[in-house]
Amino acid sequence: MTTATAPTTPPILSVQDLRTYYYQDEGIVRAVDGASFDVYAGKTLGIVGESGCGKSVTARSILRIVEQTGRIESGEVWLRRANGRGQVDETDLTKLDANSPAMRDIRGGEIALIFQEPMTSFSAYHTVGNQIIETIRLHSDLNRQAARDRAIELLRMVGIPRPERRIDEYSFQLSGGLRQRVMIAMALSSDPRVLIADEPTTALDVTTQAQILELMQKLQEEKGLAIILITHDMGVIAEMADDVVVMYLGRVVERGPVDAIFHEPKHPYTRALLRSIPSILAKPRTKLATITGSIPHPYNRPEGCPFHTRCPEFMAGTCDVREPALLPVAPDHQVSCFLYHD
Ligand SMILES: Nc1ncnc2c1ncn2[C@@H]1O[C@H](COP(=O)(O)OP(=O)(O)OP(=O)(O)O)[C@@H](O)[C@H]1O
Ligand code: SF4
Ligand SMILES: [Mg+2]
Repeated sequence: MTTATAPTTPPILSVQDLRTYYYQDEGIVRAVDGASFDVYAGKTLGIVGESGCGKSVTARSILRIVEQTGRIESGEVWLRRANGRGQVDETDLTKLDANSPAMRDIRGGEIALIFQEPMTSFSAYHTVGNQIIETIRLHSDLNRQAARDRAIELLRMVGIPRPERRIDEYSFQLSGGLRQRVMIAMALSSDPRVLIADEPTTALDVTTQAQILELMQKLQEEKGLAIILITHDMGVIAEMADDVVVMYLGRVVERGPVDAIFHEPKHPYTRALLRSIPSILAKPRTKLATITGSIPHPYNRPEGCPFHTRCPEFMAGTCDVREPALLPVAPDHQVSCFLYHD
């Protein structure tokens, strides 16, 4: 499995055939049902799909914070890191105990997470500074004063004005845009190599959204961060991603470099997502195309191709009988659809 954007260096993170299910009284939710992708240093992998397709559960599975009734059924999540002796250590995170010291070091350490709604990630009882200082001290041996200096430096780096003063404020005193910047500063405080951003700008206005995305790009260039950017917005993908994974009902339906996804989309679902982007060429007030039909309930997954109940190219007797495998249509571009099977 390789991508066009980084064929020579091995990926920092490799997710292989990941399956995470929730066991509810009403039935089994196959939230992630066979997801595979690679993430490279200095590159952004975009994960896109409609609500409920398994984007957040994929992130939670990587970090081993899947909530109750859910569990990783199968698959592997390989984290690769230099061990300082000229070799590369490989760890399959699915094999670690979720509460082990090793996994705790990786979570919020080497792999940091930023969420859509920063409000829930901050304590109302501690200043933002104290929360950042605590994270810094957890992942380094800096004393309190040095950690405070580092926190101020991080706040300045993410564009917080007058960070020496802001550091002693509470999160509710900050605007949404500033809170999201503080959240990014907090994520960076452990000097991570992988940043998972789950809808980091959805709650923000368009201008602030653009500023935050720009900030993430700048930090990536400076630090060589690998970013997994989760969004339902193809516009954000176009802006940010090097490689793209399109998910539908827990499955990867198409995967490839951003150019291929935008200029040669193959899967009918990817094409439908692209039609739903507002175009700068569209006449004002033209209705945005939406995808016909609704997403099936997770307890009632359709037989065969998961998209067949909404697909304009549906072939009876094939698409509703078997599930199409994810097969290459180009060396670095794969699609799961019978239209491309011999
Ligand atoms: N704690 C949970 N218990 C049971 N089912 C869950 C739980 N968390 C998620 N799910 C289910 O798993 C599926 C995938 O959810 P997930 O949150 O990953 O979607 P998503 O792609 O992130 O959607 P959104 O764009 O709305 O954030 C959904 O069907 C959801 O209902
Ligand atoms: S396999 Fe069939 S139903 Fe599924 S996306 Fe392709 S054409 Fe549509
Ligand atoms: Mg989500």
